[in-house]
Amino acid sequence: MISLTIEGRPVQVPEGSTVLDAARKAGVYVPTLCHDPDLKPYGACRLCLVEVEGVKGYPASCTLPANNGMVVRTDTQALNQLRRGIVELLVAEGHDNCMACAKNNRCELQRIGAYVGLTKVRYEQVHRGIPVDDSNPFFYRDLDKCILCARCVRACAEVEFVNAIDYGGRGYDAVIATMGNRPLTQSNCESCGECVDQCPVGALVRKKNVMPTREVRTTCAYCGVGCGLVLGLRGDEIVQVRGDDDAPVNHGTLCVKGRFGVEFVHHKDRLRTPLMKKDGQFVPISWDEALDIISERLARYSGSEYASVASGRCTNEDNYVFQKFTRGVMGSNSIDHCARL
Ligand code: FES
Repeated sequence: MISLTIEGRPVQVPEGSTVLDAARKAGVYVPTLCHDPDLKPYGACRLCLVEVEGVKGYPASCTLPANNGMVVRTDTQALNQLRRGIVELLVAEGHDNCMACAKNNRCELQRIGAYVGLTKVRYEQVHRGIPVDDSNPFFYRDLDKCILCARCVRACAEVEFVNAIDYGGRGYDAVIATMGNRPLTQSNCESCGECVDQCPVGALVRKKNVMPTREVRTTCAYCGVGCGLVLGLRGDEIVQVRGDDDAPVNHGTLCVKGRFGVEFVHHKDRLRTPLMKKDGQFVPISWDEALDIISERLARYSGSEYASVASGRCTNEDNYVFQKFTRGVMGSNSIDHCARL
């Protein structure tokens, strides 16, 4: 273990940790924009600067290895002045209308602006006038609001292994671009939305951007991986889905189906009552009537005469009961499921 002191607090961290890891373990807040624990340290935003006794300058704590005996300061006047300057420049570029931004109240830049006490921007506000890419069915990409932290790029490469986006252009013209700077739908983007969840500002936002009022944990039933989901609900309607960071299978990541494919739950075409074919037409019948007909007919079969196919659109619990019914009641092992891929 490495022992060091952060803001006067002694802390021990395993070898290979960064100073930022140590600060977080010591319960000391250090502002960050380009850092995420799921991604490799990058050192792009320079907001996590610290002072280290005996070291010149202001190294970025997210890339600085923790060493024995280090004495680190994270909250000095000089550091906050530097951070305020960085935030001021970022805000001057396309972040001047927070109330109209879909990330308002959840924006990490906004939060850090409050932390460093930014009350006004001395520079002229600049918008580069890059058109919003709305080609993706699930999210917008507004490069005018991008701060080039590259969390989206790294999530796409390091978490999803898709590499649909990267830095394009140089200097002031630098943007996060697809191959040939085409719209997302013309790239190899898989619409998983990992980049959207990583974006600290309003550059990548969901098209359906409704704030949930409560959350429910569940398991995705779309495939056999069984990712942990956190459903965001407004009333009884699912308005958002995010990956469950504590789920051992997916550690918070999701694919396009898990993150965005929930429309079917409240879809107007969804069956809400049993239907029975009478004279070639499907007609609604009551649940009692349906269950009587089904039990009467199923009683004629058993064992290998019976097989069932379950659905990923049902809950895990429904599917569990269905396989119990197939095995325990019908005496058959012939049960399959669309999640068997
Ligand atoms: Fe360290 Fe961005 S968080 S440089």
